[in-house]
Amino acid sequence: MCGITGYIGTDPTGRIVHEGLQNLEYRGYDSAGIALAGGGSLSVHKTGGEVGDLPVPSREDGTRGIGHTRWSTHGEPTRENAHPHTDCTGDVAVVHNGIIENYAALADELRADHVFHSDTDTEVVPHLIETHLADGVSLLTAVQRTTERLTGSYALAITAAGHDGIVVARSDSPLLLGHGDTGTFVASDATAFIEHTNRVTYLRNGDIAHLTETEWTVYNDGARVSRDIEALDWSADAAGKSGYDHYMLKEIHEQPRALRQAISGRISDLGTDVTLDMELSTETLQNVAELQIVACGTSYHAGLYAKELLETHADLPVTVHVASEYELRGGRSPKDTLVVAITQSGETADTLAALRSAAQKGAPTLALTNTLGSTVTREADDALFIRAGPEIGVAATKTFVSQVATAALLTMHIGRARNAISTSDAAALRDAIRDLPGAVQQVLDQAPEIASIAREYADSDAFFYVGRRAGRPVALESALKLKEISYDHAEGFSAGELKHGPLALVTDNTPVVAVLTEYAAPERTANNVKEVQSRGADVIGLASDAGTARHADVTITLPACGPLEPVVANVALQLFAYHIANEKGRPIDKPRNLAKSVTVE
Ligand code: AGP
Repeated sequence: MCGITGYIGTDPTGRIVHEGLQNLEYRGYDSAGIALAGGGSLSVHKTGGEVGDLPVPSREDGTRGIGHTRWSTHGEPTRENAHPHTDCTGDVAVVHNGIIENYAALADELRADHVFHSDTDTEVVPHLIETHLADGVSLLTAVQRTTERLTGSYALAITAAGHDGIVVARSDSPLLLGHGDTGTFVASDATAFIEHTNRVTYLRNGDIAHLTETEWTVYNDGARVSRDIEALDWSADAAGKSGYDHYMLKEIHEQPRALRQAISGRISDLGTDVTLDMELSTETLQNVAELQIVACGTSYHAGLYAKELLETHADLPVTVHVASEYELRGGRSPKDTLVVAITQSGETADTLAALRSAAQKGAPTLALTNTLGSTVTREADDALFIRAGPEIGVAATKTFVSQVATAALLTMHIGRARNAISTSDAAALRDAIRDLPGAVQQVLDQAPEIASIAREYADSDAFFYVGRRAGRPVALESALKLKEISYDHAEGFSAGELKHGPLALVTDNTPVVAVLTEYAAPERTANNVKEVQSRGADVIGLASDAGTARHADVTITLPACGPLEPVVANVALQLFAYHIANEKGRPIDKPRNLAKSVTVE
């Protein structure tokens, strides 16, 4: 996903903006650029390559600067299409996240008097600003008038020679300010400047802010508005690699701590009460007739796991929808359908679109997310945070297990509200939640053995993952993990489905990973294991029960963890995927073609 960073203040602007771009590289990009303004001049540097190819502008180049990493949507990933884009005078520089949907019509209108140099939608913005500046108005007014012409989504940062400050604008694409001791930052996410400050202001839709060296002012619909300063609860170290080779490996090993954060203060060791900072009333939860989950990718797999928990313990029909395919259906009144958006970033366009469509029909909505201040938290009726801390690796790891743990807490909460969960089941689920961090740590302690198994199978032709019940989402998620970082072919299936077609693909060089844990119908899955073994494939089994594991050719032994035991298997398979990708020398934190948060539909 594209990244924006900017700074105005007394520190070396060029260095700060360049570092900000480096901090945003994890989001995935294919070109980059920087613009600095000051002393009546504007300097722009762009590359069709990496941030490291950009020079670090000196302080003399300017005291205010903006930068951008581009994940191309309109136009090839070339230097010409990289941001910042400028107007005809070369005095106005613009960086943009999002999509200007009416750019073609605007470009047709502008082309009579303006020369375009790129294939991007963004380039209409500096030329529109140029036309308004020609009327003698301020940069702030020129930007206000420009945004009135735009339809679509945008986070914009603009600076211009001969005009004081940086002007920023937000509509449906995240943008926040950072308040440092030496100046003000702007970015699409706090990772860009967290080493300088954790004091942030989340801009809202329609906000236009003017940043100068001494102050920051926010306007909305032409009027000055006030916006809070919040303190983020994570540090630069939390966003750093802490000595690991990759962010992904660090985040895999952070999972016990992330899980303890997800659980902290929400359950007690004795009773089965759950304390969730949620506003949805008990009455709403009692009257809900159906729960519909909308999500993408890994979060979709967490939704499938949540379905298993909720339908088992909360007496609630649950459907799980790939967000891009979602439409609120069903004969019930939308107000009786609780729609839950699972999205760690809180910015996934497909998930936001699905949530908005449900809300517009009157359904109550809940966000289950990792990101404070994200768009989904502002648009859903209520938000439940997974508290995993920043996840930098494009491949989701700790956010998956924290999503499932939080869904287990939500299951207890809803099950109690509906008097649907027995005291014994609630206690078993509570114990599993409480024990999960320790169980995950036990698997992480097996990392060397798991790495050895990964290396043994790294050159396989393909990988198949099978599971039943709560093992199925783990099979799907583990296949996604491997394919997105190793580029190997991997597929997850319901264990019973192999014989209905995919078995034709099984050979002696396509290992089959079987989730043989509790809550995954292990004995029935073991029967499917024999089907593949008889075709010569090796089976890598994950189980806590030695008896069940006897069916596998290779076994990864897990600690028991009740209804969350499949989650523990998932952690082992994260390590399996990581070490196969690492064996192949893949750019694990920044896989090709992928972005950490996909804010375009
Ligand atoms: C998973 O490893 C990927 N990063 C991707 O599938 C991701 O889960 C998906 O894009 C959803 O992201 P979200 O949770 O931020 O909405």
